[in-house]
Amino acid sequence: MKPVILQVEGYAKHFELHEQHKLIPSSHNVGFTVRAGELTALVGPTGAGKSSVLKGIYRSYLPSAGRILYRDALGHELDLARAGEHQILELRRREIGFVTQFLHCLPRQATLDVVAQPLLALGVAREEARRRAAEWLAAMNLPERLWSVSPATFSGGERQRVNLARGFVARPRLLLLDEPTASLDPATAERVIGLIEGLKAEGTAMLAIFHHPETTRRLADQVVELAPPPAVEAMLKEIA
Ligand SMILES: Nc1ncnc2c1ncn2[C@@H]1O[C@H](COP(=O)(O)OP(=O)(O)OP(=O)(O)O)[C@@H](O)[C@H]1O
Ligand SMILES: [Mg+2]
Repeated sequence: MKPVILQVEGYAKHFELHEQHKLIPSSHNVGFTVRAGELTALVGPTGAGKSSVLKGIYRSYLPSAGRILYRDALGHELDLARAGEHQILELRRREIGFVTQFLHCLPRQATLDVVAQPLLALGVAREEARRRAAEWLAAMNLPERLWSVSPATFSGGERQRVNLARGFVARPRLLLLDEPTASLDPATAERVIGLIEGLKAEGTAMLAIFHHPETTRRLADQVVELAPPPAVEAMLKEIA
């Protein structure tokens, strides 16, 4: 068996709307493992909390409950639900990548620089970083005339290609993918599936959500089904 890199136990996320005294359940009692060189897929209906699981692992959201045990490149285990901000930022820089469902990009920055940024953060020289960024943009089929302009005005599919190139360029150990092929044309989606297979063969651990069940069937080594969140009343009882 391949080594476990990530083990999630009893993960939950809810949001408290204080003004309205409301509790919005998001993810609830989620558990699974992710292994090196394998892809674990999250499935479930819209609103089941799939994206919220990825955001909790990346710590865009602070989990409400559970443990997110991550084994780093040096073999140390830490709980991402409790790790300090500095540790999280270091892991994002060196080991954990996230291709989000929607690209939030910096205006007025050339696409090539947006994609090169993770390499620059690792200390790669600018020219080399831009060269590798260009390779990934070419692999994603993004027309070269777009490389020097900002992705702010790009179409959904173009943005998704930039997002993917940026997520892949630094070869993270653990890659979180939120519907990475949803806005792509079939030919580019097929390319991306091939690239994901390549990363898997090289040992990258991946946790992914796919728009098409067919893609899940092709790429997933494990499938985790998320149930829709329980009614708010039931949650209140649990918390009490
Ligand atoms: N920041 C937030 N504030 C309040 N509620 C939130 C927040 N983020 C997510 N939620 C709620 O949590 C629930 C789960 O959202 P999430 O985006 O994880 O669903 P999903 O399974 O990824 O759905 P989809 O398939 O549509 O992408 C939704 O009901 C959503 O409204
Ligand atoms: Mg989602």
